[in-house]
Amino acid sequence: MSNSSVEEALNVFDLRQMAKARLPKWLFEFVDRGTEDEVALRNNRAAFERIKLKTQVLVDVSTRNQDTTLFGKQHKMPIGIAPTGPAGMLWYKGELELARAAKAAGIPFTLATGSQTSMEEVAKVVGGTLWFQLYMWSDVRMSHMLVERAKNAGFEALVVTVDGPVGTNREYNIRNGYTVPFSYNRKNTTAVMVKPGWFFSVLMRYWLTTGMPRRENYPTEMKERFTHVSSAERKTKNDSLGWTDLKVLRDMWPGKLLVKGILTPKDAALAIAHGADGIIVSNHGGRNFDSSMAPIEALAPIVDAVGDRTTVIIDSGFRRGSDVVKALAIGAKLVMVGRATLWGTTVGGEAGAARALDFYRQEISRTLAYLGCRSVAELNRDCLEFVGTPHVAAAM
Ligand SMILES: Cc1cc2nc3c(=O)[nH]c(=O)nc-3n(C[C@H](O)[C@H](O)[C@H](O)COP(=O)(O)O)c2cc1C
Repeated sequence: MSNSSVEEALNVFDLRQMAKARLPKWLFEFVDRGTEDEVALRNNRAAFERIKLKTQVLVDVSTRNQDTTLFGKQHKMPIGIAPTGPAGMLWYKGELELARAAKAAGIPFTLATGSQTSMEEVAKVVGGTLWFQLYMWSDVRMSHMLVERAKNAGFEALVVTVDGPVGTNREYNIRNGYTVPFSYNRKNTTAVMVKPGWFFSVLMRYWLTTGMPRRENYPTEMKERFTHVSSAERKTKNDSLGWTDLKVLRDMWPGKLLVKGILTPKDAALAIAHGADGIIVSNHGGRNFDSSMAPIEALAPIVDAVGDRTTVIIDSGFRRGSDVVKALAIGAKLVMVGRATLWGTTVGGEAGAARALDFYRQEISRTLAYLGCRSVAELNRDCLEFVGTPHVAAAM
């Protein structure tokens, strides 16, 4: 799809529709959908509608900026790109495109453990503010090897994702014939045949260069051992992890250490006690546990408990600049986005991801103007007008 179609999109939902037209059904749904009955996915969005913002009129807001300081470093927007496994399946080496868009926008990019482009390549080819997301596998030593590599490649932060002790129940993957790792079957092959644009520009390009796309960060030993779904899950999931495992990472990792997937003040405090520099309040975009709270609902009590001791970041369901402003007003320092920039990457590589980031930039700017604020630093809970979300209301 050409960049002109990217320009035709007016918001991230348009990018989503374009991505839907381009991708095989199993791949689009893998990116787009939640888990089980998708209650968490819907609630992530619905929760924003229950929070209103207070306008302020006749304030000179002709100069507005979104500069955001995080861990002593300045970024141009209060946004970061969240780690997502399949960017390289949506666009040839899509991780490079995402990293480029983040660098150009002056924001952090987080590379996922399961990406199709290696951390060394992303660091060498693009650079910018790079964070590495780590999954703790059943063979923890293998995960520790990734930590060493991320350190040597110059990644600034390690994002340890802790919200998946066991595999999730995404029934649509099974119905669509989608397996991790990928294997061919009638359903998923038919879906590819009706999307030749994706087939030729992504899959074929890998075949002609490096072969079938693989999870390039995985140690060779793991890549080879990955033969079927159950063995993949046994190796990549670890239901026996504890806080001491985080402490071990703290001792290994000299940069910033962030814990992703926190939803309660108690876990936030434990993360800090075990050495975290920041936490990411997240329910994995509603993809893992269908009865989880929306992070925006969980945010206020967490900020109240630990906000003066740590950096609180949030993700899940942010589609509009006003969503971002609501989280900042409650007390988050940064919002991460997952699907929005993936949809953008699908339709236009770097230009598509940049377009998604542009929407957030414009919408945040417009929202600031309505609130009578000149910078994101001016946002606070006085900006929240009506809050129908019990946890947020209680914190007012
Ligand atoms: C397709 C997809 C793959 C993801 N893969 C990972 C991953 O490998 N590691 C991780 O920590 N989070 C992963 N996430 C979760 C994101 O980091 C983030 O929490 C989520 O996408 C935020 O919600 P949003 O998509 O509504 O913005 C993934 C999300 C999506 C949509």
